[in-house]
Amino acid sequence: MEYNIGVIRGDGIGPEIVKEALKVLDGVCGRYGFSLNKTEIDMGGCSIDKYGIPLTEEAIRTAKAQDAILMGSIGGDAKTSPWYKLEPSKRPEAGLLSIRKELNLFANLRPSVLFDELKSACPLSKETADKGFDFVIMRELTGGLYFGERYTREIDGVETAVDTLSYNENEIRRAAIKAFDIAAKRGKKVTLVDKANVLDSSRLWRKVTGAVAAEHPDITFETMLVDNCAMQIVKEPSQFDVILTENMFGDILSDEAAMITGSIGMLSSASLNDTKFGLYEPSGGSAPDIAGLNVANPIATILSAAMMLRYSLDQDRAACAVEDAVKQVLKDGIRTGDIMSEGCRKVSTDEMGDAILDRIQGP
Ligand code: IPM
Ligand code: MG
Repeated sequence: MEYNIGVIRGDGIGPEIVKEALKVLDGVCGRYGFSLNKTEIDMGGCSIDKYGIPLTEEAIRTAKAQDAILMGSIGGDAKTSPWYKLEPSKRPEAGLLSIRKELNLFANLRPSVLFDELKSACPLSKETADKGFDFVIMRELTGGLYFGERYTREIDGVETAVDTLSYNENEIRRAAIKAFDIAAKRGKKVTLVDKANVLDSSRLWRKVTGAVAAEHPDITFETMLVDNCAMQIVKEPSQFDVILTENMFGDILSDEAAMITGSIGMLSSASLNDTKFGLYEPSGGSAPDIAGLNVANPIATILSAAMMLRYSLDQDRAACAVEDAVKQVLKDGIRTGDIMSEGCRKVSTDEMGDAILDRIQGP
């Protein structure tokens, strides 16, 4: 079996962490009897440097022809990078938004899991950390404020900026169905997070998601206001299984959910459409401050590659082998700087990749 995967190395730490994920993938595919045909795709700052825009038509065409895409991260330091002197629609982030839209990647899954070995790195109270947590945020990714009409202009002599938050019932329904499908394979609970006490769009989310919930009597359904959810994530994260939410709320809550696991360098992410295709990337950003230093944590990208094996390539056993190898590395006390704790061995980005590769078990 051979799969076509697109590789977006991107900016900042992107190339370093993707290199480690590819190393692990190459190790696992040989043992599990499949191969990967890789095609490089430019996106973000590196595409701006080459072509003047963050995502070319050619890149979109190439991306569409793949079975899945593995991505590092895009973007640079907004204060110092020349990319941020360009108008917003030509900056690196615009490439990311446009690939999400072009590939119809409406469902963004961001798991938040506290590994036993990292409990001491968890910033929550010891009591909360001891209980552990394992939930996933299902963030709608192609609608809402990110894609609504926006402009800045003078209205009645006053400079005014407008961003529009709009959702239609179809966009909500397909996201809700995805969330219930995921919950069915996990803890059988969906929490819809919204601001229904204020926003019309949130009230539509409640109505449409409520109807989808009625078709899934075996899954517990609840709603929660987003401000309360922000609090509950730090107070009692073990209550959550699948959090379903719109684009902007999901952006914010998923960083919070990542941080409570000890490091944003641990969290994988998958962006899916309604086929098997997906784009897989770490939840964290491009961390330009540590780019090129060989200190970034590649685990989030390696776990994203495992998600790719599971969701897009149907290689579940290979996915488990990667996840088990990551757990084993943590058990063995091997740590990058961001998750370092006393008595552990501190390693570089590529040493972490090697350590995980060494621990991949055969079928
Ligand atoms: C993310 C990022 C992006 C987003 C940025 C880089 C546009 O923060 O993937 O969460 O806001 O979606
Ligand atoms: Mg974000």
